[in-house]
Amino acid sequence: MTELEVNGARQRVAAHPDTPLLYVLRNELGLVGTRFGCGNGQCGACFVLIDGRAMASCDTPLSFVIGKRITTIEGLEGEHAVQKALVKHQAAQCGYCMSGIVMSAVSLLSKNSKPAESEVREALDRNLCRCGSHNRVVRAILDAR
Ligand code: FES
Ligand code: FES
Repeated sequence: MTELEVNGARQRVAAHPDTPLLYVLRNELGLVGTRFGCGNGQCGACFVLIDGRAMASCDTPLSFVIGKRITTIEGLEGEHAVQKALVKHQAAQCGYCMSGIVMSAVSLLSKNSKPAESEVREALDRNLCRCGSHNRVVRAILDAR
């Protein structure tokens, strides 16, 4: 068994240490707000915060996160200013990419509370959105500052 800290709580999981964190979150812990997109670190759908930094959980092995703080979309409880701004701006279409985008934005704002638009766009560079809602997402994040 491996002990993890997820959303402020201690969890024990049975997965092999090489298992991608994404599978552990979704299949063992039921935290399905973190999405499987490309599965190889290219799309951002699976981003979670690891010690406050937005990272792909699909290509991060369980062994890497032992002793680190993991935050998933569920850990924000819909209360983060970024989430409220995305709703206010009706920024999501299908929403599939959105939990990963939220994580990138939360990570950015935790380090830089007043990012310029260019900094927001750079922070979201690794988050793909097939619906093309990027401009509304950027406006929402600027509003959340
Ligand atoms: S599913 Fe992890 S980056 Fe695409
Ligand atoms: S809102 Fe559909 S993929 Fe982004």
